[in-house]
Amino acid sequence: MIRVTICCTIGLVVTGALLYSQTRPTNLTAEKAFKNIQILKGIPVDEFMTTMGFFSASLGENCTYCHVAESGGSWERYADDNEHKQTARKMLVMVSAINKTYFGGRRVMTCYSCHRGGERPIVTPSLADLYGPPKTEEPDEFVEPREKGLTAEQILDKYLDALGGPQKLASLTSFAAKGGYQGFSDVDKQPLEIFAKAPGQRTIIVHTLNGDATTTYDGRAAWSSAPATDSPMPLIELTGGDLEGARLDAELAFPSRIKQALKQWRAGYSTRVDGREVQVVQATSDGRYPINFYFDSKSGLLVRLVRYADSAVGLNPTQIDYSDYRDVAGVKMPFKWTVTWLDGRSTTELSEIQPNAPIDAAKFARRIPPAGSKQ
Ligand code: HEC
Ligand code: HEC
Repeated sequence: MIRVTICCTIGLVVTGALLYSQTRPTNLTAEKAFKNIQILKGIPVDEFMTTMGFFSASLGENCTYCHVAESGGSWERYADDNEHKQTARKMLVMVSAINKTYFGGRRVMTCYSCHRGGERPIVTPSLADLYGPPKTEEPDEFVEPREKGLTAEQILDKYLDALGGPQKLASLTSFAAKGGYQGFSDVDKQPLEIFAKAPGQRTIIVHTLNGDATTTYDGRAAWSSAPATDSPMPLIELTGGDLEGARLDAELAFPSRIKQALKQWRAGYSTRVDGREVQVVQATSDGRYPINFYFDSKSGLLVRLVRYADSAVGLNPTQIDYSDYRDVAGVKMPFKWTVTWLDGRSTTELSEIQPNAPIDAAKFARRIPPAGSKQ
């Protein structure tokens, strides 16, 4: 039984670490932000929420499985305990003890190692799995660089050329875009706006029925803010892999600097995405986890990106699939992308992109949607 979990109606990546204060963020850990934290102490709020997504995905359950039913309608009620939540705390202690005692503290055992998307781990090996088609897995470690074929540098050059070439790319320095956003559980598309400015500033605003949900990278820091119905906190600072992810999204809005933005580039292997042959290229921002890029072998364009952020127990993958590349002032830009993560999926479709639009610096400033307002 797999029920996909959506914690927030608009499917925001609720990840981040410090709480908003008028002038600067203050460091806010899970035990300070929430009411009843006994084990998962000392981690930022975004990593805590990522951990909740990791739990849900590992067990194939909704948030309310380990929380009282009323938590579905009230963030306050998440503090209440039920039997499953208490078991989950014991499991956290167990997993940490196993890793410490038997694996020198390396994080080799996670909830998913045993649960594999089920409430109770399977005891007997499955004949269907054994003889069924092999499952493809996303590489969450660095792969051996391949010896033959195009190098990472050549694949990246081909990508930049396919987008229009370095000169055209350099002439695009900002844009304002409009379109629609649809979360996994949304019946309708919600209006969305994107404002981006080179180098590396980007903000996405989804005008939900409950108010604006915003994710911003301002060139240094990143945060998400959302209406109270959709997030436990009005503003969540993004940290670690989530911050790096927001920075990468902003860089990819103006990809000319992509080679310098990341390090340890390596060409891996070729595989298929939606039936098309792609070249897998890996890079990293922090040296710890790879970021996997999938470039279409024919067109040279980026069709998929997979990156990782830490949770308290294991890695949380985020996959972005890009499509519908169209010409904007001589530069090819994706008009559609789908973001998939452990407890949600969203699709963004742009209707227009205004190249080199003047962008007010206020677009990248922290702001909290006033309660209940539509802005
Ligand atoms: C497998 C069980 C499990 C699942 C599934 C789960 N949680 Fe939790 N949740 C916990 C545990 C355990 C704690 C308390 C952690 C501690 O004591 O350190 C917690 C605490 C929380 C808290 C803090 C409440 C407070 O004020 O103390 C929030 C908010 C929360 N979870 C949200 C979610 C959301 C949203 C989801 C779905 C994405 C989710 N949880 C899925 C087990 C779970
Ligand atoms: C070493 C294997 C293993 C790991 C790792 C593991 N579990 Fe479990 N878990 C089990 C087994 C086995 C059961 C079922 C026990 C039973 O049937 O009574 C279980 C049961 C549970 C249950 C109760 C389900 C029910 O039917 O009531 C929850 C909740 C749970 N695990 C959460 C977690 C979480 C969260 C993690 C990661 C922090 C985790 N588990 C990691 C083996 C594991």
